[in-house]
Amino acid sequence: MNQAAANVVELHGVHKTYRLGQHVIPALRGIDLRVQPGELLALTGPSGSGKSTILNLCGLIDTPDSGDIVLGGKVVNGLDEVQRTLLRRDALGFVFQSFNLVPVMTVAENVDYPLFIAGVPAAERRSRVAAQLQAVGLLAHAGHRPDALSGGQRQRVAIARALVKRPRLVIADEPTASLDSHTADQVLELMRELGHAEGAAFVIATHDSRLSSRCDRVLALLDGKLA
Ligand SMILES: Nc1ncnc2c1ncn2[C@@H]1O[C@H](COP(=O)(O)OP(=O)(O)O)[C@@H](O)[C@H]1O
Ligand SMILES: [Mg+2]
Repeated sequence: MNQAAANVVELHGVHKTYRLGQHVIPALRGIDLRVQPGELLALTGPSGSGKSTILNLCGLIDTPDSGDIVLGGKVVNGLDEVQRTLLRRDALGFVFQSFNLVPVMTVAENVDYPLFIAGVPAAERRSRVAAQLQAVGLLAHAGHRPDALSGGQRQRVAIARALVKRPRLVIADEPTASLDSHTADQVLELMRELGHAEGAAFVIATHDSRLSSRCDRVLALLDGKLA
């Protein structure tokens, strides 16, 4: 296997500029980045340094102005919106600061949803949802609605939902910012354990240096450049 295929995602010479009316905002100014299978990578830096922009590019939510994004060994810049949506659905997991669970669905239904959308047969879905809820310690809460859970429990549901399709890359933008520090530690530990066990890399944007210091690798961003 060549090096590009071995890496989960790579950014090569990536530039991104936002335009707001007359304002030109250079968000990323030449980013080179390689993420290895199963690693827990922290992107740190002050607000506005470009963390979310990098995650949005890795997550195929946005496109670079120049440079290449290589996902699973394939250059993905030129893909159309349909192909990008499919790849996002099939190859990536997402964890958000605000959990983004569906409030009218139970915990199990939230975790099942990506499998349902992908057309996985019902019996396999049931066993994978149960195994994933077991892995995050919430099998006993399968029938609860998210509003019956604590913040830490909700984020564990979101982690289960992100991993249930066995992606090689999970994108997590400030995943612990809504949690108290003790709960944040537990959620980070869960991401580390499951990422290593299931071979999923986590790229985590965080401005919390206490958390980033416990990741496998830390990259610091400043004004759209890696230090
Ligand atoms: N949709 C957008 N439109 C205009 N400017 C944006 C947009 N998203 C981000 N930016 C700007 O790009 C820069 C990087 O933002 P971002 O990647 O969100 O940083 P971080 O996540 O580190 O706080 C900031 O100057 C921000 O204001
Ligand atoms: Mg951000």
